[in-house]
Amino acid sequence: MKKLLPFMKKYMKYAVLCPIMMILEVLADIIIPYLMALIVDVGIAGRDVGYVVKMGIIMIFAALFGMVMGIISSHYGATAGYGFAAEIRKETFKKVQSFSFANLDKFSVSSLITRLTNDCNTLGQVAMMSLRMAVRAPFMMIFALIMALRINAPLAAVFMVTIPLTVALIALILTKARPLFIKMQSRVDRVNAVIQENLIGIRVVKSFNRQKHEEMKFKERNDSLRDTALKAISIIIFFMPILTLITYATIIAVLWFGGKQIVAGTMGSGELLSFITYITQILMSLMLLTFFFMQFLRGSASAARIAEVLDTETEIVEIDNPVMSVKDGSISFRDVSFSYPLSSEKALKDINFEINTGETIGIIGSTGSSKSTLIQMIPRLYDVTDGSVAVGGIDVRNYHLKTLRDKVAFVLQKNVLFTGTIRENMKWGNENATDEQIISALRQSQAWEFVSAYDDGLDHKVEQGGDNFSGGQKQRLTIARALIKLPKILILDDSTSAVDMTTDAKIQRAFRSELSDITVIIIAQRISSIQHADRIIVMNEGKIEATGNHEELIVNSPIYREIYESQQKGVVGQ
Ligand SMILES: Nc1ncnc2c1ncn2[C@@H]1O[C@H](COP(=O)(O)OP(=O)(O)O)[C@@H](O)[C@H]1O
Ligand SMILES: [Mg+2]
Repeated sequence: MKKLLPFMKKYMKYAVLCPIMMILEVLADIIIPYLMALIVDVGIAGRDVGYVVKMGIIMIFAALFGMVMGIISSHYGATAGYGFAAEIRKETFKKVQSFSFANLDKFSVSSLITRLTNDCNTLGQVAMMSLRMAVRAPFMMIFALIMALRINAPLAAVFMVTIPLTVALIALILTKARPLFIKMQSRVDRVNAVIQENLIGIRVVKSFNRQKHEEMKFKERNDSLRDTALKAISIIIFFMPILTLITYATIIAVLWFGGKQIVAGTMGSGELLSFITYITQILMSLMLLTFFFMQFLRGSASAARIAEVLDTETEIVEIDNPVMSVKDGSISFRDVSFSYPLSSEKALKDINFEINTGETIGIIGSTGSSKSTLIQMIPRLYDVTDGSVAVGGIDVRNYHLKTLRDKVAFVLQKNVLFTGTIRENMKWGNENATDEQIISALRQSQAWEFVSAYDDGLDHKVEQGGDNFSGGQKQRLTIARALIKLPKILILDDSTSAVDMTTDAKIQRAFRSELSDITVIIIAQRISSIQHADRIIVMNEGKIEATGNHEELIVNSPIYREIYESQQKGVVGQ
């Protein structure tokens, strides 16, 4: 938690004023029973109406003052608490944006979502409560104790029994509840993970008729969250009545001994009345403290989870004085090997090849042969484990990251569009792109034919994830978005798999005629998508099996020949 305190800085004023106002409220709360005692013992006992009225008015003012202070304090506390949470959320979000693919592999997406939502909210609430309760409870207790001692020190001896007993009980509750609260947090994580996965894949779930299965999975996790929460709360349910019992026992003891003193004439009945109020205040403060500590436990679990994100350094670091421009689109891989962060196996082994600027390269191979892994090394989505990758003759690790990624445009296997209009999505590639540039890119990717058919053209809405487009349309839009960057290298990872053969051929033709000066790397399932490439790399189990053009590979590469023949059969069979 200490680590997160700096995030309070912006709200320091509120964080300081809140407890001060709170102390003033407590003072009012403390003075009221005292005034009450005076009214009873001096005013009523002496039949002095003027005194009663005077004290009554003071009491009302004290109450009003306490109320105003309470409202201001609560308001400041809320401002500081929610502000604190917002600051943490902002920084955590920023941190996640800086994460590399490797970082994202380590934290799961659903866990990051829980941390950014639940954990940040919890921290805000805990901060708010800490500012109020953590100040209110001890002050209330100390002041009430002082007043009780002042009124009647011998009677206050009952506290010698009550307070240690209550404290011991609270300590017991906390030690019992702590592990359960920590467990609860991880149960919440598990529930969120299912919800998230399910909602992202809801269409798949429905089309596979897996709702029942998903419900069962959810039920199991949801039940276990409920059970843990129930266990935690039952500790409190069990101990709270005991605390109340102690309170009443104390009151009875005070009435008993105090009653004797009243009979003996050494104590006023008003004093006894206020004494009992102070007892209640003291024991209430103790309960408040218990509650606060429990919240604090929750908060510290959340704080640890946020700190873990904030402490993670992105794996992709930039060197000092990085290279700020990319000379050309040449690429070279030297003795490259790579393993994913959580995996012990090598996904790439001894990769060596050179690509000249302006070449069109095809990559083919079975699924899992590390085609995607290979090209993710070029824009530094991951860093190589061994060897080196160079673009334009310079090691990718020496570039300014933004420069490199601006010049290496990447169309991922999973095409993602964002909520907004088509134009807005296209501007991701280049904020300053004109409509002409956008339309020209859409033409090259063969997307203009369907975009121009919309009444609202470039203003056509894109729904979340681009779900209002077909797979092939989405792919063409994402290719256009990459082209708008005017890259030196364009990488298409299986980006035309959902596009029909004729359109695919048109895209390839447009690339050949219009993008002849940039390096294009195309990963494809279909031989037809890469047949005309200058060279083709055949991947197999993380290694390069062969390189060459179509005709050479038909002769030299058994794997290539096999893929080719199976697809020829498919065509003939149709
Ligand atoms: N993020 C990841 N973390 C761990 N392993 C991965 C990750 N992505 C891919 N892999 C593994 O690396 C291997 C190559 O995957 P990939 O490059 O996606 O193959 P391809 O694109 O040729 O189908 C596979 O065995 C896959 O399971
Ligand atoms: Mg792939």
